[in-house]
Amino acid sequence: MRILGIESSCDETGAAIVADGRVILSDVVASQASIHERYGGVVPEVASRQQLSAVIPVVETALEQAGLGWGDLDGVAATYGPGLAGSLLVGLTVGKTLALARGLPFIGINHLEAHIYANWLRPVGAGVSGPEEAATGAAGWPGDPAFPLLALVISGAHSELVHIPRHGRYELLGQTRDDAAGEAFDKVARVLALGYPGGPAIQRAAATRDPARKNPLHLPRAWLPGTYDFSFSGLKTAVSQIVEGAEGVERAGDGGEIAPGTSRYEREGAAAARAGGVTAADLAAAFQDSVVDVLATKTVRAAKELGVRQVVLAGGVAANTALRARLDADLDPLGVALRYPPIAYCTDNAAMIAAAAYFHLRLGERHGYDLDVRPGLQLPFASRATAT
Ligand code: KG4
Ligand code: ZN
Repeated sequence: MRILGIESSCDETGAAIVADGRVILSDVVASQASIHERYGGVVPEVASRQQLSAVIPVVETALEQAGLGWGDLDGVAATYGPGLAGSLLVGLTVGKTLALARGLPFIGINHLEAHIYANWLRPVGAGVSGPEEAATGAAGWPGDPAFPLLALVISGAHSELVHIPRHGRYELLGQTRDDAAGEAFDKVARVLALGYPGGPAIQRAAATRDPARKNPLHLPRAWLPGTYDFSFSGLKTAVSQIVEGAEGVERAGDGGEIAPGTSRYEREGAAAARAGGVTAADLAAAFQDSVVDVLATKTVRAAKELGVRQVVLAGGVAANTALRARLDADLDPLGVALRYPPIAYCTDNAAMIAAAAYFHLRLGERHGYDLDVRPGLQLPFASRATAT
């Protein structure tokens, strides 16, 4: 089953063709990051206008790259939420229109569910014909993520720990009470003048530290004991206090030295800071350590408590190598496998939309042409109490 997926929820315009929810036949992404970079974040009006000019060429290129015509497709899917209304509208309208014009089944896809299904995608070049199970229509192929799963969904707008006992069932264990993990990365990167998007910039800056030198900074962790919830907004404040409290601050672009200051967190690490100075790289690393520590600790605890077979990472922050390494190390002794998509499929892409669509279309699910965008869409959570 070959499905054309279209993704336009934010500042990326994507189209991809995926066979059987796993095999990527083509994948095209037009990114606007360089346009939004100068504003330090996504400007919604600019994003939707860019979506409009990119979407048709991106879809045409996806067909071309796959070497397929419309007659070779079995369905069309597009993101209908969550995301920016104006951006979503472009991809959804194009998806519905193409499906109608070509007489193909249409389904709208939840962007968050698609991030989870990015874990079903196979590396490009793995071949078009799947295992024998494909011919029999079996739901599972060897190498698929194994249920029951725990998913850590961490993107620019979401941080959720979700128990997934089987396809399509989502039980919410915990979520952020304020900023999303990716949002925290983006905000702190702005404070440190490291650029946009913040996640990769912070990761790069942290990696420039000499690992043999102890980080003079240790930032707070919001543990919210007894819950699987997260809170990341205090971290941005902590970093801002250090940067603002430091006299004659020089930020990343100016050589990276931050002089000792007077903020609470700065005072706590003051001795070390005065001796060695605190760099933007120290701050980036201390921030990343704090986020990774909380995300990993809660994920490992949930994996143990629920007895899941695997943990999957989903969303842009899943690209973070420090988080992957920490979870790998902590889950391995428990016999729980950690899975994450290849880096390119962690951040927004259309292959994951086509992957998620397969698992709905194969059950005969369809959406009508009256499907509207849902900017605030959540995962369709089922209550744990009624879990079977
Ligand atoms: O999933 P995504 O591409 O878009 C949304 O659906 O939100 O996630 C984008 C987020 C941004 O906040 C970005 O800074 C973050 O993912 N991100 C990272 C990394 N790469 C992207 N965060 C931490 N480390 C990374 N390597
Ligand atoms: Zn996303």
